[in-house]
Amino acid sequence: MPNSRIIGTGSYIPEKVLTNLDLEKMVETSDAWIVERTGIRERHVAADGEAASDMAAAASRRALEMAGVRPEDLDVIIVGTISADMPMPSAAVLLQQKLGASKAFAFDLSAACAGSIYGMGIADSFIATGRVRRALVVGVEVLTRILDWTDRNTCVLFGDAAGAMVLAPSDGPSGILSTHLHSDGAGAPALYIPAGGSARPTTEATVREKLHYVKMNGREVYKIAVRSLTAVLGEAFATNRVTPDDVSHVIAHQANLRILESVLQRYAIPMSKCWVNLDKVGNTSSASLPMTLDQANRAGRLSRGDLIAMMAIGAGMAWGGALVRW
Ligand SMILES: CC(C)(COP(=O)(O)OP(=O)(O)OC[C@H]1O[C@@H](n2cnc3c(N)ncnc32)[C@H](O)[C@@H]1OP(=O)(O)O)[C@@H](O)C(=O)NCCC(=O)NCCS
Repeated sequence: MPNSRIIGTGSYIPEKVLTNLDLEKMVETSDAWIVERTGIRERHVAADGEAASDMAAAASRRALEMAGVRPEDLDVIIVGTISADMPMPSAAVLLQQKLGASKAFAFDLSAACAGSIYGMGIADSFIATGRVRRALVVGVEVLTRILDWTDRNTCVLFGDAAGAMVLAPSDGPSGILSTHLHSDGAGAPALYIPAGGSARPTTEATVREKLHYVKMNGREVYKIAVRSLTAVLGEAFATNRVTPDDVSHVIAHQANLRILESVLQRYAIPMSKCWVNLDKVGNTSSASLPMTLDQANRAGRLSRGDLIAMMAIGAGMAWGGALVRW
């Protein structure tokens, strides 16, 4: 029997839309280039004054309502984010305060775009020990605040959003069958923020040189992503002795349509099984996976007994996969 199952999902997408045509006016790019290379057409941007914990609270309230769980009954809150409200304290404690989840211990998890799948794996393990009965796992990013809007290599890719899941002990065959989490720090130079940490504290010079913004070697990230996600899906299938044909849905972190297509092609899984939203929201990092799950769930696409394959990868590199029996 699985340790835990997902009993509620929620998401929040800020109102303001930034289209590829808007970006054409900001950097040397084109709608055609962005769509062809990534599949992204538009993304959303948080309102002035809207911070990670605000967006996380909106997504969490929806997930808690669906789950029928009161905030005060939560035992743990795990927030995957690299764009928390501030360096200290965590977005998770600010979220705890906003929800009134007084009993929960709360912490942020830094695994970039893999933040939610890491959070899900950790929450599942906490529940397996019996230490936790109700877990809130959130992915939230306000990456538009840490992008260099003059760098076309990065600013066309990302958007803001939040996604949340409530996990509880499983009482039957439904639930998280397995999670598979991996990291490889050799990939750190491919996607990172050079300044603003202890290695290179913020100074006038780092600000002038824009070193507190996301830097990326897109080609390198692309190669690592296809290789790692393909491997982790294979690992999940082998662990559970299922075949790719058994998969009903793929719920994946949406970085790039071509990455998803390449990975699924290796297993002959049709793209029709993969819920795609990156055309509308871009790469929303840790928010992507739970938001995508929530959209599929609320659209009534997930049926009891369906087998869901999940995968996500981000800076680190950090990546993970999971199989879930809905
Ligand atoms: C970023 C990405 C779309 C770039 O596509 P690519 O086919 O690899 O393109 P390249 O980086 O090789 O760049 C090709 C050319 O397009 C240019 N280019 C880069 N961004 C551009 C943009 N927004 N508009 C127009 N041209 C652009 C490059 O400068 C380069 O020009 P050059 O050949 O004159 O030097 C692709 O590498 C990618 O998706 N990588 C993964 C990124 C990712 O998912 N990151 C998050 C992981 S969670």
